Amino acid sequence: MLQTPYYLIDKTKLLRNMEKIAYVREKSGAKALLALKCFATWSVFDFMSEYMDGTTSSSLYEVRLGREKFGGETHAYSVAYADYEIEEVVSNADKIIFNSIGQLERFADKAAGITCGLRLNPQVSSSTFDIADPARPFSRLGEWDVAKVEKVMDRISGFMIHNNCENGDFDLFDRMLSQIEEKFGTLLARVEWVSLGGGIHFTGDNYPIDRFCDRLKQFSEKYGVQVYLEPGEASITKSTTLETTVLDTLFNGKNLAIVDSSIEAHLLDLLIYRETAKVSPNEGDHSYMVCGKSCLAGDVFGEFRFEHELKVGDRVSFQDTAGYTMVKKNWFNGVKMPTIAIKELDGTVRTVREFGFADFEQSLS
Ligand SMILES: Cc1ncc(COP(=O)(O)O)c(C=O)c1O
Repeated sequence: MLQTPYYLIDKTKLLRNMEKIAYVREKSGAKALLALKCFATWSVFDFMSEYMDGTTSSSLYEVRLGREKFGGETHAYSVAYADYEIEEVVSNADKIIFNSIGQLERFADKAAGITCGLRLNPQVSSSTFDIADPARPFSRLGEWDVAKVEKVMDRISGFMIHNNCENGDFDLFDRMLSQIEEKFGTLLARVEWVSLGGGIHFTGDNYPIDRFCDRLKQFSEKYGVQVYLEPGEASITKSTTLETTVLDTLFNGKNLAIVDSSIEAHLLDLLIYRETAKVSPNEGDHSYMVCGKSCLAGDVFGEFRFEHELKVGDRVSFQDTAGYTMVKKNWFNGVKMPTIAIKELDGTVRTVREFGFADFEQSLS
C-alpha cells in the first residue's frame, strides 16, 4: 500500500480525454497542444503524445520541458521574456508567440529562425472570476488595437487568442468566436495559423463535440488558417485523485476531520477561487468538514457526506485533482508533498516521484 498523501493519475481515465482530443483533431483539422501551465507531470507525456501534437508553454522552463519530454510541436509563449532567456527559448521552440508588440519588436531579430506570432486580446471572455479573466479591464494579456497590429503584420504569421475559461458552453464559445471574427477578421485573413488557446471543456460529458469540430473547420476554411487548440484542463479532466488519510477527528459544533494534506500546499486553486474539493459519491448519513493540516485557519477541503463515521486512518479521496495542482504544489508549513503515482492501463500502480526532507531543504537556502 502506498503511503498517503499521493496524487494518482489513472491512465484509463486519461485515455478517455485523449481519445476525444484525437477525434477533434481528426474531424476538425485542428492541432492540439498540451498547456503545460495546467499539467506538467511528464511521466505520462509518452502516453499523451500519441494523441496530441505537442505542447505550449508560459516560460522558458516550460518550453524546454515540452521539447525535452513531450516532443512534437513546441510553442513558446510568455507574458514577457527577459533578454537573458530569449536565445534558449528560441532554440527550444518551433513557434514563438509574443504577448505584446513591444516584445515582438524587441526580440524579432533573435527569433528570426522560427515562426513568430502575436497574442490578440478580443476583450471578451467567458470568465466569471476577475482574477482569471484575460479580458479584464486594462488586461496586459495581448494586443487589441487592429491599427497597431496592422503595422507589424510583416513580422508574424499567426495569432494566439486565449479568452475561454472553464467554458463548457458550446454556444458561448461559438458566439465569442463570431465576435473575434468581427473584430479581427481582416487580420485573420492575412495569417497562416491561429491558436484559440485553452479553456474550452470539449472533453466534458455531453459537450456537443461534433458541432465544435464543424465550427473549427469552418473557421479554418474561411480564413485559410491552421487552427490550434491549447487544452490544459480538458486534457486531464477527471483523470486524477488526491489520496489522503484522516489524522484526527474533532467535534467543534460540526464534525471535523483533519487529513494529511493541505489545500494551500496541494490544491491551491481551491483557495484562490474559493471552491471546494470533490469527494465521490458524497452520500451517506455522516457529514464532515474535511480540513488540511496546515496552520491556515481556512485550510478546508469542504463539507462532505460519508457512509460511515470517519476515524483516524480512514482514506479520503479527492476527485479531479490533475489540473493546476501538481504544478502549483509548494512546501508551505513543510507539509509532506504528495507522492505522484500512475495507475497503468492494466491496473498496476507505479510510483514515479516521492518527495522528502532533502527536497524541502533544497527548495530554500
Ligand atoms: C494562453 C493559454 N493557453 C492555454 C491555457 C490552458 O487553459 P485550460 O487549462 O483552461 O484549458 C491557458 C490557461 O490559462 C492560457 O493562458
